[in-house]
Amino acid sequence: MTETSTAVVHGPKREGVPALEARRLTKHFPLTSLGERGRVVHAVEDVSLALPEKTVTAVVGESGSGKSTLARLLTGLIKPTSGELLLDGSPVGTSARERRAYTSDVHLVLQDPFSSLNAAHSVKYHIERPLKLHTKLRGAELEAKTVELLERVSLHPGTDFAAKFPHELSGGQRQRVAIARGLAVGPRVLLADEPVSMLDVSIRLGVLNLFDELRENENLAILYVTHDIASARYLADTIVVMYAGEVVESGPATQITDSPQHPYTQLLLSAAPDPSRGQAPVLRGKGSPPSLVTPPTGCRFHPRCPFAMPVCEERTPPPLPAGADQVAACWLLAPPTAEAASAG
Ligand SMILES: Nc1ncnc2c1ncn2[C@@H]1O[C@H](COP(=O)(O)OP(=O)(O)OP(=O)(O)O)[C@@H](O)[C@H]1O
Ligand code: SF4
Ligand SMILES: [Mg+2]
Repeated sequence: MTETSTAVVHGPKREGVPALEARRLTKHFPLTSLGERGRVVHAVEDVSLALPEKTVTAVVGESGSGKSTLARLLTGLIKPTSGELLLDGSPVGTSARERRAYTSDVHLVLQDPFSSLNAAHSVKYHIERPLKLHTKLRGAELEAKTVELLERVSLHPGTDFAAKFPHELSGGQRQRVAIARGLAVGPRVLLADEPVSMLDVSIRLGVLNLFDELRENENLAILYVTHDIASARYLADTIVVMYAGEVVESGPATQITDSPQHPYTQLLLSAAPDPSRGQAPVLRGKGSPPSLVTPPTGCRFHPRCPFAMPVCEERTPPPLPAGADQVAACWLLAPPTAEAASAG
């Protein structure tokens, strides 16, 4: 994370300009039903994120915490209520040409490999389509590139897979085709929203390993959205924990899972024990995620937090240092005030 005068930028710390940067992204969805007009869902609140090349950043959190909204904001598919995106350090423009360039640089891998491919078309068709749109390759060169892309995602021999139809592939193989299609346009950034959650457990690891290879071999900046903090630890350099639309903790993946400082991260980890981590922190959470139409005041986690103090309901905790490159937005990490120290 980098401290700026206005916000903490979450994500892996690397020299140089990140491939993609989000500055203070906020998304409020207006409610449209009768009686609710004028109210909004506070889905993402003031999130700054830098994704350098050759890194994986995992975004973890419960259902409804804003992970997919954040990923969709990064694709440019939805407009932020406020905040901006920078690709290789330059603000993303709004002209049709700039939008087209952005969509080939930033590619979204969807959760469902079954609906992301068209059953009526062969694998070859799916890979050739973006190549025809974005490159001048034709004929034998186009075929060779298609085979090469399939083999880059470990679908060997590529010529055999090119001739297949989606119904002839397993879920993992379909997800690999979807990834190869994304690679066809030479993206700088892959945004993967729960890319393995619909796959059989036995093939998830293979797809995660593929992301790991792509990070290195394709110089990609990868955002990995997941419920599963154990897989985030396995794959990611940095973990960003979201709760009710806000980032509550971020830092190096092993540090976050070995030494979580925010009570919500501790709760997430206690719900997903990881055998390699030894003793899981034991923390009983109460209740469920809050309404994002009327989010709790102060720390949004306070109604569920076993450590909540009066200040937690009144004031929003800022991100506070919680270890090397680790920050957590929790008043427990605030240095004691002079009055509190003298009272104690
Ligand atoms: N188009 C929309 N209109 C209104 N509210 C929306 C819209 N899209 C998302 N939301 C709301 O924004 C909040 C965050 O949703 P989001 O899908 O980003 O969560 P998530 O963390 O991806 O959850 P999950 O793990 O279930 O996929 C939720 O309260 C959701 O209902
Ligand atoms: S700020 Fe307070 S309520 Fe929020 S996580 Fe920390 S102790 Fe719990
Ligand atoms: Mg989601």
